[in-house]
Amino acid sequence: MLYLIGNWKMAPEKNTQVVDLVKKSREIAKLYKKNITTIICPPTAFLSTVMKNAKVPLLVGSQGVAGNPAIAQTGLTSVHMLKENGAAYCIVGHSEMRARGDSNADVKEQITRLFEKKLVPILCIGEKNHDAQGWYLSEVKDQLETAFEGLTPAQAKKIIIAYEPVWAIGAQAVRAATPVECREMIIFICKFLTDKYGTAVAKVIPILYGGSADEHNAKSFVEEGGAQGFLVGRVSLDAKRLGLLAKSIS
Ligand code: 13P
Repeated sequence: MLYLIGNWKMAPEKNTQVVDLVKKSREIAKLYKKNITTIICPPTAFLSTVMKNAKVPLLVGSQGVAGNPAIAQTGLTSVHMLKENGAAYCIVGHSEMRARGDSNADVKEQITRLFEKKLVPILCIGEKNHDAQGWYLSEVKDQLETAFEGLTPAQAKKIIIAYEPVWAIGAQAVRAATPVECREMIIFICKFLTDKYGTAVAKVIPILYGGSADEHNAKSFVEEGGAQGFLVGRVSLDAKRLGLLAKSIS
């Protein structure tokens, strides 16, 4: 089973656009449900609008959760609120959140909160720079080590990992990663998981790719890159392109 997860980021702007996008995403989810699990992660403000229009097989997640459960945190959203509004998944560790200050320890706290309410963490990891010597591997290792610290095999098996090299994300991206770069990182992540939990556990943890993934390059990321799906930004806001991406990998 492949995953297709849409990170809507801070878009769209209008309720009518949200309803339209949910309906179209649901059609895609239905069409490819045999081999693709489709999840959308809208902005929190639209969560209840999305839930009114999203039915299985389309699943819904959030883009973030407060790690600290204290109430006095202006602007943040607790895991209770996400649960109450129907989110079953939640993105943590996205580079745009890390750039605004989330540390590895913060990401770890967020994972703890999600497990308390049985939400599935979509853990984003990825390096800022892809240096020729491979020092970026230690940056990703630190992210993995902190996120998985103290997790039981049963908890680890519930996590979805998204490898998102920071330099490949969004409109400012230098370029997408190549399938070879993706495969290299997936092998590295698999080795980390295998060393920590053994092969049986490591094998069930999906590792997705994110960063300028689209309808043209997705197939090669799956076939040559070893990706078990995608965390997509821009393409998730364009139902036509999202459908073509799904078609290309189904
Ligand atoms: P783009 O697909 O727009 O590059 O964004 C990727 C991303 O950040 C998904 O979380």
